[in-house]
Amino acid sequence: MEPKRLQSSKEKKIRRKEVLEKKKAIDEIIKKASSVKDHLASFPPFCHYDRNGLSVYLESGSGDQLSSPIKKYIQNLLKVNMEGPYGSEWPMEEKVKRREMVAPEARYIFVRESPNATLDGKSLRADEKMTSAGWMGDGDRLVGFVHYRFIVEEDIPVIYVYELQLESCAQGKGLGKFLMQLIELIAHKNHMGAVMLTVQKANVLAMNFYTSKLRYIISTISPSRVDPLIGAEKNYEILCKTFDAEAKAKLEESEMTG
Ligand SMILES: CC(C)(COP(=O)(O)OP(=O)(O)OC[C@H]1O[C@@H](n2cnc3c(N)ncnc32)[C@H](O)[C@@H]1OP(=O)(O)O)[C@@H](O)C(=O)NCCC(=O)NCCS
Repeated sequence: MEPKRLQSSKEKKIRRKEVLEKKKAIDEIIKKASSVKDHLASFPPFCHYDRNGLSVYLESGSGDQLSSPIKKYIQNLLKVNMEGPYGSEWPMEEKVKRREMVAPEARYIFVRESPNATLDGKSLRADEKMTSAGWMGDGDRLVGFVHYRFIVEEDIPVIYVYELQLESCAQGKGLGKFLMQLIELIAHKNHMGAVMLTVQKANVLAMNFYTSKLRYIISTISPSRVDPLIGAEKNYEILCKTFDAEAKAKLEESEMTG
């Protein structure tokens, strides 16, 4: 029999190898998901949305291939929708978002109005085609977008939704829910363990949308669950929806309850 000390160093070595192999497998999952050019291609029924007076179609994009009008559009819509919830932190946050927006790992789903679209059955006049974020580029007008990334949180490969932004004319018509369902399908197909996102506490409508309507829960890695004192100082929560037992244990259940 081997001496105990040797045995334990051997065990440590095996454990280290296991950890490294697991890390390698997770990196592979992320790499594979990130290498897919167009995630929408796997879900043709999700490429159009014709409901509640909205007629739109979806288009994929990535952060390093955004045209100038699209960059401008994203910045405008973020300002229109998020300046309120962020309050005095907005100027700093705006700078962060401008950097995040163009990162190569940023994946996008753009929502464009279908050609000859009507609003509630009536065709739109030219002056009605200008939206709150003022789409000024070529092609059909944009009414919103999702920015998501494939990343690792607590050793779990996840889709992190950086932004889900719809113009006011496209809100409250089921489109947000539809887009989040699509994100969950993309996450599943690409072997992610969860979908995660950050919501400002002041954004009560969005918080309600995710927690009540879509059944997202406040993650164990959200400041308020890490430490209530830290949580009270922070103005955001991290939400998640998990798809397997390991992700659930790490991202939803604290050690005490898990
Ligand atoms: C938050 C947001 C993404 C929700 O998308 P949406 O398309 O407006 O929401 P949906 O129409 O899909 O609503 C889904 C459900 O939430 C409810 N809901 C959505 N908006 C609501 C509102 N303003 N008030 C009450 N309920 C609302 C709907 O009743 C619906 O419930 P149902 O399925 O039982 O009918 C969208 O409103 C938005 O872009 N807001 C501004 C930007 C923002 O806050 N983004 C989130 C940042 S984290």
